[in-house]
Amino acid sequence: MELLQLEEICVSYGRIEVLRQVSLQVNEGEIVALLGANGAGKTTTLRAISGLVKPRQGDILFDGSSILALPAHRIVGQGIAQCPEGRKVFPTLTVEENLRLGAYLHRNDKEWVEEGQEKVWELFPRLHERRFQLAGTLSGGEQQMLAIGRALMARPRLLLLDEPSLGLAPLLVQEIFRTIKAINAQGVAILLVEQNARLALKIAHRAYVLATGQVVVSGEAADLANDEKLRKAYLGAAPAQS
Ligand SMILES: Nc1ncnc2c1ncn2[C@@H]1O[C@H](COP(=O)(O)OP(=O)(O)O)[C@@H](O)[C@H]1O
Ligand SMILES: [Mg+2]
Repeated sequence: MELLQLEEICVSYGRIEVLRQVSLQVNEGEIVALLGANGAGKTTTLRAISGLVKPRQGDILFDGSSILALPAHRIVGQGIAQCPEGRKVFPTLTVEENLRLGAYLHRNDKEWVEEGQEKVWELFPRLHERRFQLAGTLSGGEQQMLAIGRALMARPRLLLLDEPSLGLAPLLVQEIFRTIKAINAQGVAILLVEQNARLALKIAHRAYVLATGQVVVSGEAADLANDEKLRKAYLGAAPAQS
């Protein structure tokens, strides 16, 4: 069942066109990887889905209806949450305060917020231990967990993850990827932007490769993972570890 559908979207920053007729689809229950070199347009694609930039052409459907005209907060309300590149937690707020911001639309529903919080603690026990600590004092890995937890507080049906492994040590990367699979197993569809193509293709069901704003390859993750030519052309060398 189709959950998210991008239909030939075009996005420009000023006069520069950064996405050209990008079409992609995420089905219910899927992990879909969005790969490509730096500057290919991956973050812009996620920002378009979240309503942070508006495509000049094309359409974005969620659950069969266009979300193109909706403001960002309404898109969150529909069930799409984004975990931004570079984590962007609020350093001078506590772990718990950061999490609660993710439930902003339901801030007056104490039960709803607490239920969401319990789920995040289950997923990330380490965050629970540090719930009164300022987010700025957490390690990079813990901040990434917090950023993911904050997105989950919106109880999304679709989670957009932008480079969750960036700058993390290999063991932490493994932990983050295990968590992504666990979140997916709870029924949340995931669109995963990653530099680490090898790892992303291991957990993804399908994948798309962007190059200079266009989808150049798409298919089953396993097929893409075994395609040496593709890897050399678009994905760079595989990282040594993992
Ligand atoms: N706010 C912006 N204003 C102008 N150009 C931008 C902006 N954000 C990104 N770009 C440009 O758009 C292109 C795609 O960027 P981005 O979506 O961030 O790529 P990726 O996430 O794949 O690295 C790049 O050439 C980048 O320099
Ligand atoms: Mg990016």
